[in-house]
Amino acid sequence: MRNKQTKRGIFMSVTVTINAKPHEVADEHLEMSLLRYLREVLGLTGAKCGCDRGQCGSCNVLIDGECRRSCLFKMKKLDGKDILTVEGLADGDKLHPIQESFIVEGVMQCGFCTPGQIMAVAGLLRKTLTPTREEIDKAFKGVLCRCGSYPRVIKAIHRAAAIMRGDEWTDEKRVFDDVIGSSYPMVDAVGKVTGSLKYVDDYYVPGMLCGKVVWSEEPSAQLLGIDASEALAVPGVVRVITHADCPDLYYGPLAMDAPVLCGGRIRSRAEPLALVLAETQEIANAAAKLVKIDYEILPAVFSPHEALSPGAPSVTTDYAKPGIPIAGHSAPESDGNVTLKLHIGKGDVEKAFAEAAVIIDEEYSSQRIEHGYIEPECSITVPLENGRYVNYSNSQAAFGARDNCARALECDPEKVNFCQIQVGGSFGGKGDHLLRMLSCVGTRVTGRAVRVTLSREDSLRYHNKRHPFEMHEKLAVAADGRILGLQNYLLGDGGAYTYFSTRIMPQAVCYSSGPYVIPNFDSTGVVAFTNNVSSGAMRGYGSPWKAP
Ligand code: FES
Repeated sequence: MRNKQTKRGIFMSVTVTINAKPHEVADEHLEMSLLRYLREVLGLTGAKCGCDRGQCGSCNVLIDGECRRSCLFKMKKLDGKDILTVEGLADGDKLHPIQESFIVEGVMQCGFCTPGQIMAVAGLLRKTLTPTREEIDKAFKGVLCRCGSYPRVIKAIHRAAAIMRGDEWTDEKRVFDDVIGSSYPMVDAVGKVTGSLKYVDDYYVPGMLCGKVVWSEEPSAQLLGIDASEALAVPGVVRVITHADCPDLYYGPLAMDAPVLCGGRIRSRAEPLALVLAETQEIANAAAKLVKIDYEILPAVFSPHEALSPGAPSVTTDYAKPGIPIAGHSAPESDGNVTLKLHIGKGDVEKAFAEAAVIIDEEYSSQRIEHGYIEPECSITVPLENGRYVNYSNSQAAFGARDNCARALECDPEKVNFCQIQVGGSFGGKGDHLLRMLSCVGTRVTGRAVRVTLSREDSLRYHNKRHPFEMHEKLAVAADGRILGLQNYLLGDGGAYTYFSTRIMPQAVCYSSGPYVIPNFDSTGVVAFTNNVSSGAMRGYGSPWKAP
């Protein structure tokens, strides 16, 4: 590293080689992470940002031949380093054997982690072309894939290593004369292995604002006020958006009962209270910490049992409603914490118990489960000159997404072009429209393109989880092993808002008899509101015992 004299003073001079090209790093980029430099300065978006703290491996690159997390290195520390990204692996149009092997072995699913996996393999095969299982496991420690299959990765590694050693290699026949039974590469396989396939956060719109959500720090409270004056004084902050900018805007997959920005009753720590819009993500992040929230803290309930107990505080009552005083209120009797109650049955279950040789009477529980997709949520809204808009986001429901964007933009749905971008994993967790509605409100209010990307922490905090269930199961069995009857009671923690509860519990009671023919059946399902994060769709939803 050399010092260099400029008109503004003495600065370090940092030069790196990236994909065989030398780059002198500009002074204003010295504090950037290598990941951000690659993505935002050079437009090399093959390295992905899954966690930004060295845990997921999606940002892997080679630094002097070693596989490294690019989010952990500042540019000022990389002087003289030789960096290889996934974009530099192929030889023109000819894929590297590792990339080709990933396609042949069908490694990818959503593909978000694929560039990081490929660079981990590249680092491994630089050290040895005959890797042992232990060496492969070590190289893949912390290279997380949520939806793919590691055994296929191992096959791809052995194939690539053999080809790189110059050994003979014959691929298993996967395409047969009959189309049915054949395996073909994914249509976007080349984009996934070269890093050229774009996910939402890989899009860059010149002049766009970056958003940071301010969430509630209280699980149950009345919002008394938001003071954004300090945040607004930060150079580069353009606007702090609150409920006043979208007072009638609610979202939710089935019942629209969740405010896009809360202005009254706070029901969980996943409640969005404000959106800071700034010229860069760093400015927005820093300014969001300066937004002051004034709360009146209210009693909270964190389990469905508590929520349904006599005298439990109401999760849903808004104390700011006319006629209900904010200060000095007393908690109301709990009559509003039931999200849904339903019952199905057939035959005579009491008769079945009377005739049973064996009765099994047990209680079970399942836990809240996080989807764990590697790509965090992101939405970009762009205003066009003709009064129309484009929204780019990762959704599971394109038409619902367009209609909700239109509500947030206060325009006709015909004026919104919703672009469904490659989804980097979802498993049911990207089924609501909060992020795109926030970016649309930002665009409506500022007239500029707005991107809202969640950090890993914010993603974990906000998006709905699998319902935790408590189950009381009573089974009547005959002496010859036949199931005569089943009676059960399912209690689900629905969290703060309705979300998918009104669809999931009906499925749960129906699925609760499993694959068996049971002549006498009696099932009751209840979902309760609590002050936890909302529960929603997650992999095979409604089957309470399903493993993730
Ligand atoms: Fe690995 Fe989706 S294919 S996270």
